[in-house]
Formats: sequence, C-alpha cells, structure tokens
Amino acid sequence: MHQPVLLQETIENLITDTHGKYVDCTLGGGGHLALLLAGLAADATVIAIDKDADTLKNTRLRLSACNVILVESDFRYLNKLLGDLGISRVDGIVLDLGVSSFQLDDSERGFSFHKDARLDMRMNRGQKLTAWEIINRWGEEEITRILYDYGEESYARRISKAIVKYRSQGEINTTLELTEIIQTAVPARYRREKHPARKSFQALRIAVNEELEALREVLPQAVTALKAGGRLCVISFHSLEDRIVKKFLQDQSRQCTCPPDFPVCICGCRPPLKLVHRKPILPTEEEIAANPRARSAKLRVAERI
Ligand SMILES: C[S@@+](CC[C@H](N)C(=O)[O-])C[C@H]1O[C@@H](n2cnc3c(N)ncnc32)[C@H](O)[C@@H]1O
Repeated sequence: MHQPVLLQETIENLITDTHGKYVDCTLGGGGHLALLLAGLAADATVIAIDKDADTLKNTRLRLSACNVILVESDFRYLNKLLGDLGISRVDGIVLDLGVSSFQLDDSERGFSFHKDARLDMRMNRGQKLTAWEIINRWGEEEITRILYDYGEESYARRISKAIVKYRSQGEINTTLELTEIIQTAVPARYRREKHPARKSFQALRIAVNEELEALREVLPQAVTALKAGGRLCVISFHSLEDRIVKKFLQDQSRQCTCPPDFPVCICGCRPPLKLVHRKPILPTEEEIAANPRARSAKLRVAERI
C-alpha cells in the first residue's frame, strides 16, 4: 500500500474553492486524491492522471467517485488532456513525483534493487524503452552520462565500464545481476555507506521514464491551466527534481527582471505566480519515522496571480 507523503500539508495548500476543478497529475495509490475528495463538495471535479495502466486499474477499484475523471496518460500532455475534456482553467494542480510503493513492490516491474526481476522500470508498460535496453544496448559514454547526470553517481565511469565488460560475455537481464555488477565495481568503503546501487537505479528510472523532461514540460502548462488564485503543489524527492521546480517557481514569481543597477524598472514584468511559502514544506520527524520514503520530500506551493 502506498503511504502518501506530506498529505495534509499538500491538500490544505491545494484547495482554494471547494466547488472547483482540480488535477492530480500523479494518481498513484490515490492517497492525495482521497483526501482531496474528502475536502471538496459533491459538485467539484477532479481529473486524476497516471501513465501506469496497472495503477489506474487498481486505484479505480478502490476510488471510484462520480466526480473523478481518470485519465491514462503522461502529465506532460496536461494542456491537451484538459482541452480534450473541454476544461480551460482549473483551481489546483498537484504533482507528487516519482514512483509509488505499488510500483516499487511489484516484483515484475524491476524498479527495486532489492527484488529480482527483469530489468524494466517502465511506468508506462506500453513504451518501448526499458532499463534492459539501456544496460545492454547503449554505449559506455551514454551510460556514464545518465548515471552521472540523473544519479549524481561519482563512480559512474567505473560502473558503466563494468557493465560493458560484463555484457561482452552475455546479456545482463535482471535487477540483481546489475546490482552485483555495481557492487563489485565500486570501492569497499562506498559499499558500507548507503546501498551502492541506489543512485544507478534512480538514474536508470529517470532515463527510462524521461522524468525530468516531463517535469520541465508540465510546469509551464500548469501555469497556463490555473485560474487566478489557483494553486500548484509539487512534491519532489531528490535534488534534480527540486532544482527544476525551485528554479521554475522562482523565475515565474520574480517581480522585476531589470538588472539590479537600473535606477527604475523598465521591464514592466508582472509575474504569473507568487510563492505561497518562501521555503519548501518538509515532512515532520514523526512522518519520517513512520514513512522513511518521506525523508527527502519537499513540497513547494505557488499561486496563480
Ligand atoms: C509518488 S506516486 C503518487 C502517489 C499518490 N500521490 C498517492 O498518494 O498515492 C507517483 C505516480 O505518478 C505516476 N507518474 C510519474 N510520472 C508520470 C508522468 N510523467 N505522467 C503520468 N504519471 C506519472 C507514477 O506512475 C506513479 O503512479
């Protein structure tokens, strides 16, 4: 069962009109959706998106309400999806990034370095690119680049060299095979810190699902889709995601873009967003103790002006 992160904090910040229209871009186990629905009147509408068909099926069984429209799609197409539904503006949009426990715990999906499975990691099982393809078919330089860029893995080069060496003997098919290759490629002291495959698995998952590209694409669409006074709530789980969200919200809420030494403002800039909280909202110690996945979570909230 997926335990939603920063649940109360997100929904309290998200609802501005109990009769309004809302989008949950990352349905997952429906935890945020359930509390959102509990806070809304019966005439409100929620569009809940997920690109994982299995997730949608599971959650639909538990959470079918007549005012929820479930959509199987990538949130990077947000504006088109809303246009297709005949909805021009909404009161709130929530993004709870990454994978759900449902996906991590499903031993067939290959997201976890603790569970043996075929290297897959696709959130949308209809797409072609899998982690197997990257590990077995991509060049050493490309693998190094994704481990470094998406995993911030300092041993990226050593790991990708080991992968390429190993696969010259035969294919690398499973998560545990890959985990073992990584373990033997890194120095012993690194093995004693956090799990040595953690960063590489994060990097592969981000690459397979184009997670950062989708995030960069959805943020400006969310601004366009919000009514004045509507809220955007984004929960991120690692620094790569948070950096994108933080920079975007800062840029979109910057009052004046004139150089600081200009005596008067000539840009006439009217930002589309204002930050509801200057700093991100973090989970409490109690939440982290109850749900270790919350440890790295950050919630940023902005309001459409
Ligand atoms: C962290 S979970 C969301 C959990 C949910 N808020 C809850 O309370 O149960 C993230 C979900 O977003 C989905 N997801 C991730 N990236 C997506 C994208 N680009 N488009 C659509 N769904 C996406 C994943 O498939 C996953 O089910």
